[in-house]
Amino acid sequence: MGFFITFEGVEGCGKTTQIKLLAELLAARGISAVLTREPGGCPIADKIRTILLDAENSAISPLAELMLYAAARAQHVTEVISPALEAGEIVLCDRFCDATVAYQSFGRGIDRRVIDNLNGHACQGVLPDLTVLFDCDPVVGLERARRRIEATCGLREERFELEALDFHHRVRNGYLHLAKEDPHRFVIIDGSETVEEIYAAISSQVVARIPEALRAVR
Ligand code: TMP
Repeated sequence: MGFFITFEGVEGCGKTTQIKLLAELLAARGISAVLTREPGGCPIADKIRTILLDAENSAISPLAELMLYAAARAQHVTEVISPALEAGEIVLCDRFCDATVAYQSFGRGIDRRVIDNLNGHACQGVLPDLTVLFDCDPVVGLERARRRIEATCGLREERFELEALDFHHRVRNGYLHLAKEDPHRFVIIDGSETVEEIYAAISSQVVARIPEALRAVR
């Protein structure tokens, strides 16, 4: 089996930049890794992503939204994550099942048991070995996300950025709650620090958690 690392946090917490840097660091050391994200990661799930993040779809109901995340995950696990882990790869995934608990349960208020149940089906037994939580004040994160969106001329994936600040505080609390529930799986990184500081934290803390056998140059 490979090693499955997920990256989580509120909008603009800096995780996407850091996953790319981590993938580059691993590649420079001759360690191969599969880099993917949710929602998305394969053609069918990418189509679902377009529906989920389109700012014009603000009328989507919380339950429909939840089921689309689960559908995208089921496809992504089947098509990408499971085969890669079975082939012994390191998989770096930008968001996974914890995002559904933080956003759809703590954020939207859907019963946690419904989400755990659906996640159980969608994940098909695949759970992260390590989850890196980029913790940051939503005010800081949303400002970063706003600047990123303004600099993007293409598709505007901003439905969540348009939520009220209170929603983002609930999401942050949700993530911190999950980290307390499972302290061995989670590593918490201060996402309000600079890119360089966060990178230093990631490269020391995360690489050390990858099993020795997978860190060997292949
Ligand atoms: P991203 O901006 O990190 O690519 O994530 C896409 C958005 O989807 C982000 O606002 C968080 C949200 N999301 C959920 O609400 N539930 C989920 O299960 C996942 C994976 C993402």
